[in-house]
Order: sequence, then C-alpha cells, then structure tokens
Amino acid sequence: MLDKNTADLSQVDRLHRELAHRAILPPEQAWAMPGEYYTSPAFLEVEITQVLRREWMCIGHIGELRNPGDYFTTELLDEQLLAVRDTEGVIRVLSNVCRHRGNRVAEGSGNARKFICQYHTWTYDTAGALKVAPHMKNRPAFDQSKCGLPEFASEVWMGWLFVNLDGNADPLAPRVGGLEDVIANYHQDQRYLVHMEEDEWHCNWKALFENFMEGYHLSATHLTTLHPITPTKLCEKMISGEGWTGYHACYDPDYPPREPFHPDLTEYERNNSPMYGVYPNLMVGMGTDFTLFMIIRPNGPDKVRIRWGVTGQEDEPTSGATKSYVDLCRAFNIEDKEKLEILQQSLKTQGYHGGPLAPDEMEGTIWDFVQYMARKMGHGPDAETP
Ligand code: FES
Ligand SMILES: [Fe+2]
Repeated sequence: MLDKNTADLSQVDRLHRELAHRAILPPEQAWAMPGEYYTSPAFLEVEITQVLRREWMCIGHIGELRNPGDYFTTELLDEQLLAVRDTEGVIRVLSNVCRHRGNRVAEGSGNARKFICQYHTWTYDTAGALKVAPHMKNRPAFDQSKCGLPEFASEVWMGWLFVNLDGNADPLAPRVGGLEDVIANYHQDQRYLVHMEEDEWHCNWKALFENFMEGYHLSATHLTTLHPITPTKLCEKMISGEGWTGYHACYDPDYPPREPFHPDLTEYERNNSPMYGVYPNLMVGMGTDFTLFMIIRPNGPDKVRIRWGVTGQEDEPTSGATKSYVDLCRAFNIEDKEKLEILQQSLKTQGYHGGPLAPDEMEGTIWDFVQYMARKMGHGPDAETP
C-alpha cells in the first residue's frame, strides 16, 4: 500500500518501492499493484529499457513462415521488423528499415524472392544482403557489402518465434525447461497454425497478461462461454519458473471430451488445458484439441497490440471444428476486452491502491508475474541487475 511518505516521490520511484516491497512478501500476502503501475508513461519507459528490450519477446509463429520466401512484418517497441524464411530455409528477423534513407522495406506479409524498397529501389535478398542500389557504384562512401539489413537475435520455441532486441539475452530454452516437462505430451510443436489475426485493446499490456493468466474470473466474466468448460473452482496452479507461470484449467466432468486426444496424453492431461505465460509477452491456452495464443506488446501505457492465433492438430484452417473454436475465442475475447478497458479507466482514479489477490490456484499467476517484474527491476533476493 502507498503511504503518506511516498506522496512526493515520482511515479517511477513509488513503483520501484512497491515492487521492492512485494519482492519480499510471502505468497499468502499477495497484493495487486497500484493503478499507476498500469497507467504511468514514465514507468512504461523503464519497463521497455530494463525489461522488454532485454528479453526474448515473441513476435509470431513459424506457421506464418512455412516456405522459403515467406515473410511477415511487425512492429515491436518502435522497431520495424521483417521476419522471413530465407531461400536457404533459415528463419531470420531483420530490421525492416532500408539502409539508404530509412523507408520500410516490406509491408504486410506474403512470399518474396527479394525485397525492393519502394522509395529508391534498393533491393535486398531474403537474407537481408543488399543486391541492387541504383546509381551508387561510384560513390566513394558506399560499400554495398556493409549495407545489408541488420539481423536481430531470434529463437524458435514450440513453434513460436522470439526476438531479443538488445542482443544480450541468455538462451531462451533453459528459462522454460521446467514448463516443457509439464506440457510435453500435448506436442505443441507438432500443431499447425490454423488462424491468426491482429487487434488492439485499450488497456495496459500487463493487465492483459494478468487477465489471461488468472482463472479467478472464468466463471464470472465468461459465464456462458468458458464457465461450462473450465469453471473457476477447478483451477489448479502449475509449478512456475524463472521464465514462466501457469495454471491448469481443469474441464468440467459434464463437458464432452475435447477430442481428438494425442495418444501420449494421460488421463489428467485429457481433462485440463495448461494455461501458461512465457514472460513477458506470450500467453497460451493449450487445450487437448486446439491451442489459443496471444502475443502482446505495449503501444503506450493504455493500449496493447495483439497478435492472436490458434494452432490445431490437423492442418485444417477452414474445418468446422477450427471455425467453432475461433468463434469461441472471439466470444470470450470480447468479454475480456470489455472488462480490461473498464479497468484501464478505473486504474487512473486516485483512490485505488491495489487490492488483495485471490488464493494461489486462482491468482497465484499474477503474483508470479509481479515477482518477475520485481526481479527484472532489481528488487528482492533473486534480483537481476537493472
Ligand atoms: S530509402 Fe530505401 S531506397 Fe531510398
Ligand atoms: Fe478471460
């Protein structure tokens, strides 16, 4: 809770104090962060420099890059990115900024053998090397071999594509190793991308992460959509680790089996969806039949840009089963969006300082996420250097 002595501290200093306070509290005293954690422009800048640019951030799914030449473009923390499978089959995340005067080299998504900047037609191959630069041959300052598109560090995990903007992050896999044990039998890396779309909600990126990751709201907010499948009372907290948190959304025994089941699934696994968040920006609801995932990034403190998609066991984007699952996702997304956009308004009020969190199985994931942010900001016994 904020006290009187914090009144004249800056927002950023106050939030550091709040995180430092929570970093040493036991889980039984879990307490939500105050409103300005979700609304402060100054704190978002700190998050971007101290956490997001240093982390592995998910930007898409390799189902978007199936064939050589397939590409998609996206924006991440003011960086323009071009994700491409080059003609040799290598997946790369390139800067989508022309080395000449800075135009975007590619737009949207598609398949290309080369990328031609539309401003003055500098032309790059799919690995980012500059191949054509009209009328530049005799310029003494021009070295074509040094004008390729810069490449960012990237990794693929379970089919999702991650990028590290500052290039110094430790490998991703060890941070999510324990999670792989929990989800192994669902064989996520064998599922096909069957749906992808983009959206923007008027809420803070962390509020969306927390909403996706907690099961406390399932029965109340999703009374007719998710409550009949995964009611709040059946949520079970998953173990969590350095790079993730999660819970098991267990199925109501009266709900029909969500087949087809992968033969490796145990009886328990056939009856729950592991819901997990890979810090800081990938959230996954992995059903026995389909997987919903959301990739998020902030667009200011009160807007979040979303790429969400569905993977399925069959490569069938137009099947009836796929369509009805996507429809279900759209329906509960609308319900979440409505709540989160109200929250974003309410969190600006002076009188809200954060409330007590529900027990571990329902909101322990939020507490894990707060602890993660505290660690990343240099607080608590497991602090990382800010
Ligand atoms: S800005 Fe791309 S060719 Fe000039
Ligand atoms: Fe929800």
